Amino acid sequence: MKKIKTICVCGAGTMGSGITQVAAQHGFNVIQFDIRESMLTKSKASIENSLQKLVEKGKINITPKDETLQRISFTSNIHNCIANVVIEAVIEDKQIKQNLFDELAMINNGETIFVTNTSSISVTELSHDKNYAQRFAGLHFFNPAQVMKLVEIIRAEKTDETVISTLNELANQFGKTPVICNDSPGFIVNRVARHYYLEALQLIEENKTDVKTIDAVMEATGFKMGPFKLIDMIGMDVNYLVSNIVWEALNKPERLKPSIIQKNKADANELGRKTGKGFYKY
Ligand SMILES: NC(=O)c1ccc[n+]([C@@H]2O[C@H](COP(=O)([O-])OP(=O)(O)OC[C@H]3O[C@@H](n4cnc5c(N)ncnc54)[C@H](O)[C@@H]3O)[C@@H](O)[C@H]2O)c1
Repeated sequence: MKKIKTICVCGAGTMGSGITQVAAQHGFNVIQFDIRESMLTKSKASIENSLQKLVEKGKINITPKDETLQRISFTSNIHNCIANVVIEAVIEDKQIKQNLFDELAMINNGETIFVTNTSSISVTELSHDKNYAQRFAGLHFFNPAQVMKLVEIIRAEKTDETVISTLNELANQFGKTPVICNDSPGFIVNRVARHYYLEALQLIEENKTDVKTIDAVMEATGFKMGPFKLIDMIGMDVNYLVSNIVWEALNKPERLKPSIIQKNKADANELGRKTGKGFYKY
């Protein structure tokens, strides 16, 4: 396997932006791609802002900040997306992700590793009939990607073991704590955490208590964030989609049924922090 120098991050939203920052801060050249110029502009500003905060806190000085920014190129032209590793972080839609990987496979060489940051789509299904299936895996970061240490590396049915070890090394180079698991709905964290969100939503549906109380109680028991604050940070749309995909993939068990409250909020564009209103106002 060739030495990894260049990483392409597809999608400049919440996750893509954070992953770009992580890779650039750890010395990699990063191509940040999005089909929307406005998202690239927003991502650039958000990375600059995040690095500036690190300077103010004394965690880095101005030189590494500038060097990090110089390592990132922003593009809306897919033909610039040529890299050793491509990390896909576009919207949670199987067809859109597959089309994107097919296009990327045509312009990259036969050694490029393709990884998806999907929260819930089957990594095996995304790749199993493709000629790049052996070079395909999941690399699942958590939000905010520039802060959270955990990264799940997901082994699909055809993923080559050398790819898994390369990704393990890469995650370590990013300063992350990687955990390797086999592909299954929701992987580890999103499967176990479903209940954290769904039981809390169920309590609201049953009119037993309120959002603020549940968050306060869960935080008092030691969770860093209550379920509703967490959903607002993740994005109502993303979290609701993940609930649906995991529920359907497991043959719709009653215990994992998505919440109507969440559907209504997602339909009303009350997506949380990113739209200024979710369970809370921002
Ligand atoms: N939000 C979270 O907390 C979280 C955590 C872990 C993983 N994820 C996963 O990461 C992925 C991205 O989630 P997000 O929250 O960053 O979404 P987001 O909505 O913030 O950003 C998605 C970006 O993808 C871009 N995009 C859409 N189609 C594209 C295409 N064909 N090519 C290039 N760019 C395209 C959009 O313009 C947008 O900028 C999803 O698969 C999601 O499940 C999200």
